[in-house]
Amino acid sequence: MVTGAAGFIGSHLVESLLRQGVTVLGVDRRSPGDNAIAAENLGGLLGHPGFRLVQGDLVTDELKPWVDGADTVFHLAGVPGVRPSWGDTFGEYLECNVLATQRLLNTCVSLGVQRLVLASSSSVYGDCTGPLREDGLTAPVSPYGVTKLAAERLALAYALAPDSPISVVALRYFTVYGPRQRPDMAIGRMLRAVLTGEPLHLYGDGRQRRDFTFVADAVAATVAAATAEATAEAVNIGGGDSVSVLDVLRRVGEITGAEVPVRDDVYQPGDVQVTEADLTKARTLLGYCPSVTLTQGIEHHWNWLSARTPAGSPATATA
Ligand code: NAD
Ligand code: UGA
Repeated sequence: MVTGAAGFIGSHLVESLLRQGVTVLGVDRRSPGDNAIAAENLGGLLGHPGFRLVQGDLVTDELKPWVDGADTVFHLAGVPGVRPSWGDTFGEYLECNVLATQRLLNTCVSLGVQRLVLASSSSVYGDCTGPLREDGLTAPVSPYGVTKLAAERLALAYALAPDSPISVVALRYFTVYGPRQRPDMAIGRMLRAVLTGEPLHLYGDGRQRRDFTFVADAVAATVAAATAEATAEAVNIGGGDSVSVLDVLRRVGEITGAEVPVRDDVYQPGDVQVTEADLTKARTLLGYCPSVTLTQGIEHHWNWLSARTPAGSPATATA
């Protein structure tokens, strides 16, 4: 079972599992029938004999019929995004990231599911200085990060409870990019800015750094987490290099052959200065080694986006 199957990372995960001959039930509250992004993300998979998609909400729907029969649950559903998590949106973050996770865990335990792989986040570290290790401090500085840490701790608590049937691997993904990236994220926005001429809003001075991770690497780690020897573990999944936003702008310019149009904008609350993953545990536990460099990954992302967006066309849907 893959929750968040219609999302960016979830749809790539489904694709990878199907390629490996795994039968997948995808669950998402968005469906290709009523959401353009879901339609694009899942477009190529809907007729696949190994795949069934159900539209439903993990916060309110009865989960048993979906979880029943699953040996592994990949829980990627959630409301992502650091910057929009302040203010009135928080109720939705809380429900979709924390309450939904608790409901899913409860259901998994009652049905004897053996492994849950959870999408956690580098945002659990907040502004701690790197290289960030899983046994180091977690101190989120955004409401989003607080909900991701709460979900992670809940999942680990369920796994560690006496006689629990379930084991948990929580993957702390670091800023994932690549084809089908969410429209609110930086690299896709830079590439679209080149195509459309609409400037990228550069938040702060651009010297903030991220350990950008190509989506195929994040998915390989996620698949490996299903069978790793583990009871209750949190593991960093990074791209292997911490690079500034200014440096990414420069690389995008080189790859696309055009300067990214930029408009200076203010620093956004909750944005951390640096993320840099220590990958020792990922290597040991999952055999993980990022295989796509940032330049190669941006090239893949650019090739995908430019093939589907005619130059000069307006930016694509944002919801
Ligand atoms: P996404 O928004 O593309 O996908 C999330 C999916 O979850 C969406 O399709 C959404 O409809 C679904 N969803 C949300 N609430 C739901 C609910 N209550 N019931 C059913 N479905 C629901 O996001 P993404 O970028 O693919 O991220 C996937 C996961 O990874 C999220 O949990 C996110 O917090 C985490 N994560 C992402 C990144 C990244 O860089 N993209 C980094 C760290 C962690
Ligand atoms: C990303 C995801 O959006 C989160 O869901 C995830 O949890 C987080 O990674 C993570 O690693 O845990 P973020 O690092 O903010 O969050 O990723 P981007 O949206 O790609 O932003 C990267 C940097 O570019 C940020 O410093 C941001 O301020 C900047 N940016 C982004 C801009 O300057 N302009 C934009 O239009 C978008």
